[in-house]
Amino acid sequence: MAADKTLLLIIGGGIAAYKCLDLIRRAAERGYRVTPVMTKAAAEFVTPLSVSALAGTEVHQDLFDLTSETEMGHIQLSRSADLIVVAPATADLMAKMTGGHANDLASTLLVATDTPVLIAPAMNVRMWKHVATQRNLKQLRGDGVHVVGPNEGDMACGEFGPGRMAEPLEILDAVDGLLRKGRLSGRHILVTAGPTHEPIDPVRYIANRSSGKQGYAIAAALAAEGAQVSLISGPVTEPAPHCVDMIRVESAREMLTATEAALPADAAVFAAAVADWRTATETDSKIKKDGSGVIPDLKLTENPDILATISKGESRPSLVVGFAAETDDVIANATAKRQRKTCDWIIANDVSPETGVMGGDRNTVTLITADGAEAWDEADKTEVASRLVNRIIDHLDRETVSC
Ligand code: C5P
Repeated sequence: MAADKTLLLIIGGGIAAYKCLDLIRRAAERGYRVTPVMTKAAAEFVTPLSVSALAGTEVHQDLFDLTSETEMGHIQLSRSADLIVVAPATADLMAKMTGGHANDLASTLLVATDTPVLIAPAMNVRMWKHVATQRNLKQLRGDGVHVVGPNEGDMACGEFGPGRMAEPLEILDAVDGLLRKGRLSGRHILVTAGPTHEPIDPVRYIANRSSGKQGYAIAAALAAEGAQVSLISGPVTEPAPHCVDMIRVESAREMLTATEAALPADAAVFAAAVADWRTATETDSKIKKDGSGVIPDLKLTENPDILATISKGESRPSLVVGFAAETDDVIANATAKRQRKTCDWIIANDVSPETGVMGGDRNTVTLITADGAEAWDEADKTEVASRLVNRIIDHLDRETVSC
């Protein structure tokens, strides 16, 4: 329970505002006090009366409300909570936040605050994908704003894609994660996991046997230490770990885009088994078997190397960890890979079929750093994750001390 914690909930003007009624109720179930603030547009979607009734307190709406200002000024209001949650964070609110605008109560509170901020974006898919929104998102992340969602799915406007606000329980998991004190509190860590699927045609794809278990275990262990985790995952059946920001993708190119959008981060762990190749040409129609015995001539092209791209890029996290799944000369290949991809550490493992690592629950790994190779005993993937997370914590702590 979070009995002593207060959330300042800024409700933006989008159709997803209706979910805030449930969010307030669920937050109360988890013991949070909610101080609601509504923009003018939000009041077009849900009534301040409903919000106030569920929160059990008045709704703040007006920057120039004399009664509110004498009781609690907007500066004090902006700092009275443990966390500010903006839900739904509309394209307009995100743009205002990026620009530091302060022309209504919600935007003024966001500029005046020294409290951590979590946004739950929600908007039409095209608005979400618009270059301005993506630029604002990157800037906001860089400014230290935490982000949960959006999810992909059917939208109220009839379109399909990313833009649906995260569900109330997902938002509260992110809130719990941010308010829980751990050794990684205040750190943003990115994890890629699972395979990628590379389409051949609308019904077939190239894939691999990765289950995502090791990456998911690492994401869960990082979140348990209070890190804000962006888990960029290819298609797997593993359940999403608690308190992580899940970003689901299919292909390597989508994974690269999502990874770049999730930066900056303090550290990044690239556990995904990204497909090395995709088909050179995309087809919108199913390739037909015509009975002639002639098989399709599938031309392949190389996928971008996400780890190497991020590791050599401008927004490189200070600690970059890669994986090397090998079947031969594991240590030599992994050591060469560390240098080639310019990452700091490589977790090398033997994925020959007899090891049962692919899809299994146990793993035997060797940590390769600039100082050499360190073999770890065989362990459950959760134990490997926890050892790795301890090493990440030591590394980030040492880095902070030496700054
Ligand atoms: O080259 P290889 O696939 O063996 O490299 C493994 C490491 O590189 C893993 O950390 C994996 O997540 C990452 N990788 C990547 N993008 C690719 C291929 C591999 O991020 N296209």
